[in-house]
Amino acid sequence: MNNNRPIGIFDSGYGGLTVMKEIVKRLPGYDYIYLGDNARAPYGPRSFETVYRYTLQSVQWFFKQNCPLVILACNTASAKALRTIQQNDLAKIDHTKRVLGVIRPTTEVIGNYSNSKQVGILATNGTVISGSYPIEIEKFFPGVKVFQQACPMWVPLIESNEHHSKGADFFVKKYIHDLLQQSPLIDTILLACTHYPLIQEKIKEYSPADMTILSQGEIVAISLVNYLQRHQEMEQQISKNGQQCFYTTDSTEDFDNHATLFYGTGVSSKHVDLEAQ
Ligand code: DGL
Repeated sequence: MNNNRPIGIFDSGYGGLTVMKEIVKRLPGYDYIYLGDNARAPYGPRSFETVYRYTLQSVQWFFKQNCPLVILACNTASAKALRTIQQNDLAKIDHTKRVLGVIRPTTEVIGNYSNSKQVGILATNGTVISGSYPIEIEKFFPGVKVFQQACPMWVPLIESNEHHSKGADFFVKKYIHDLLQQSPLIDTILLACTHYPLIQEKIKEYSPADMTILSQGEIVAISLVNYLQRHQEMEQQISKNGQQCFYTTDSTEDFDNHATLFYGTGVSSKHVDLEAQ
C-alpha cells in the first residue's frame, strides 16, 4: 500500500501555484498537497529568522501530512530557510525526508540562456538581500555577471489583483529600467519570484524585444522529473492517485478566488492553522 504520501508544495501565498501547475503538467500521476501561508504573506520583506521559522513550521506540517518530499516553491523561503532546514533540521526531524527549493534548479541552467553572459534577476527584497542568486550562479557559471533588482511593489499589486492597472504599468516599467540601468548588456532576465509569471506579458512589453525572459515553473518541473528519475528510493515512496489538495492559513474563499488566476483551474481549499499545531 502506498496511499497518501503526497509531494508537498509550499509558498508564502499563491505564487507557488505557478510552479505546481508546471509540475502537475509533467507529473500528473503523483499526489500533491499545496500550502499557501497566506495569513503571514508576504515573506519578501521579513527577516531571515522569521522566514526560517515560518518555513520550518510549514515543512513540519507537510511531514505530518506524510509528505516524503517538500518543494519550497518560493524564492524567499528557498533563499532564507532552505539551507538551514536541509543541513540542520532534517537530520533531527526525519533523515529520510527531503526538502528542495527553486533557486538551485534555476541557477544550474540560467547561464545557458545568455549570449552576453550578463543576466538580470528580478526578485523580492528578501531574495535580493540574501545574495543567493549571485552566489549560486557563480558556482555553475563563473563567467556570468549577475545584476539584481528588487521589485517590492509587484507581489502586493498581484495579490490585490491590481496587476493589470495603470499603476502596475508604472512599477513594471520602473524596475525593468532600474535593472537595465545597471548594465545595457543584460540579455536574459529571470523572474526569481513565483508570483511574477502573472505579469510576464507586461514585463515583456517593457523590456527590449530580444530579451530572454525566464520564469521558473517549467525549469523547476523539469528538474524534479530528473530528480525523481535519479532518486528511485524517493520516487517509490510518493503515492500515485493523481490527487491534488490545497490548504491555506488564511481565508479559503480568498484562496479559491485567487487560485484560479495562478493555477489556471478552480480549486477548493481547506484551512489550516500552523500556529495551533
Ligand atoms: N512567491 C514568493 C517568492 O517566490 C514571494 C512572495 C512573498 O514575498 O511572500 O519569493
